[in-house]
Amino acid sequence: MDESIVPDEIVKLEQDLSDRVAGQDRAIKQFVRMHEFVLGGLTPQDRPLGVVLLVGPTGSGKTHIAETFCDIMKISLIKVDCAEFQQSHEIAKLIGSPPGYLGHKDTKPVITKEAITKRWSEPNAPKYSMILFDEIEKAHNAFHQILLGIMDRGTLTLGTNETVDLKNCIIVVTSNLGSGEVKKLLQTGGYGFVKKNEGTSVSGELALDEDIYRASKDAVKKFFSPEFFNRIDLMVVFRSLTEDVLRRILDIELKIVQDRVLKAGKFIHIDVTNRGKELLIAEGTSKEYGARHLRRSIERFLVSKITRALTTKQAQPGDMILADHEPGAKGLVLDIAKGAMEIPQPTEKPVCTAIVKKPKHAFINPEDRQAASPYRSAIDPEYCGRCGFRWYDKHLCADLTDSPLSRFRKKMDERRLKS
Ligand SMILES: Nc1ncnc2c1ncn2[C@@H]1O[C@H](COP(=O)(O)OP(=O)(O)OP(=O)(O)O)[C@@H](O)[C@H]1O
Ligand SMILES: [Mg+2]
Repeated sequence: MDESIVPDEIVKLEQDLSDRVAGQDRAIKQFVRMHEFVLGGLTPQDRPLGVVLLVGPTGSGKTHIAETFCDIMKISLIKVDCAEFQQSHEIAKLIGSPPGYLGHKDTKPVITKEAITKRWSEPNAPKYSMILFDEIEKAHNAFHQILLGIMDRGTLTLGTNETVDLKNCIIVVTSNLGSGEVKKLLQTGGYGFVKKNEGTSVSGELALDEDIYRASKDAVKKFFSPEFFNRIDLMVVFRSLTEDVLRRILDIELKIVQDRVLKAGKFIHIDVTNRGKELLIAEGTSKEYGARHLRRSIERFLVSKITRALTTKQAQPGDMILADHEPGAKGLVLDIAKGAMEIPQPTEKPVCTAIVKKPKHAFINPEDRQAASPYRSAIDPEYCGRCGFRWYDKHLCADLTDSPLSRFRKKMDERRLKS
């Protein structure tokens, strides 16, 4: 067998995840592997598709990777915040109360058949879902017992005695256990952020990695019962964020800010100078809160100013905002270049919802990841249900790749490349 042959879908998923989750390559690989197992149909029949434990410092991307995976795969994510189940009586919030109890009608269970299968009828949707139990160590022991049943049999019995089948679910459990020990091991850094030690050799890093893994595993083993630990298929230890990773996260977050502006219907190009980025990094580096602090710094220094520029109409569609930090000054200053961008107009072509019989069209560009994925029409599988062109694998939907938004993005990219 040639092991270098990897399905396109898997390569693309890994790439898409790496574009949005920085510095957690091992975790990315495991999520991708899980999807490949599902794709290959070799998952267990009598349990959930997989049970994964993610441990690591706060703000290092544990919840983020699960959310991003579901967003890319277009699968439902049912999030259970375990901190809400610190008392045994709070279990009713998870499974609903038995009939006849006071308040029975108000306590709707979180995990239901409807919630799990919600997206399965969408075209080309994978027929599985993810349940995320966030910060498991905060939950009461009675909650752990319920989770044990889920991990073991892939079923959950609700207060109404109805059984919910969870065999088509990936169970992800996150925890901060062991972060304290890891912090000590890293010495220089701390929670969620660590300065890169330039002098560390590869073998030294591997040994450190091994120590971190062991410390985390010991902490988890100490906290949970052996039954619990034994039911976990996979444990991934998240790394503390290095300065390089934080810079990558900054770029990811700035793209998200740009998207928010575009989604608000404003064709405004946002750019931040290197000095501006340095300020955001300096203000957003937190030993305690990991990347969360960086997001706060972006909101405080950049988004609030952009908002003011928009509400006062100082920045309008077609403008370009350049955020800079002048040495000695406080915060960022926005420079607005009026009319620097061309506002793309919608094309004559209407967005196609019905089937239009057109011949095969030359829209092949599987590399273009911004384009929405086409799907076979339910009415006539010979044609794409989205753009109406004759179906063939990996075509791009004409109307979507040619939308004003995508043309604006292209223009922004061209500008960035030039500068
Ligand atoms: N590795 C990463 N790549 C990209 N963004 C990240 C990464 N880590 C954190 N972030 C950003 O920081 C935010 C907070 O991260 P997240 O909620 O995943 O932390 P966590 O590891 O689950 O922490 P906690 O243990 O406190 O729940 C995310 O929403 C995301 O925007
Ligand atoms: Mg989290």
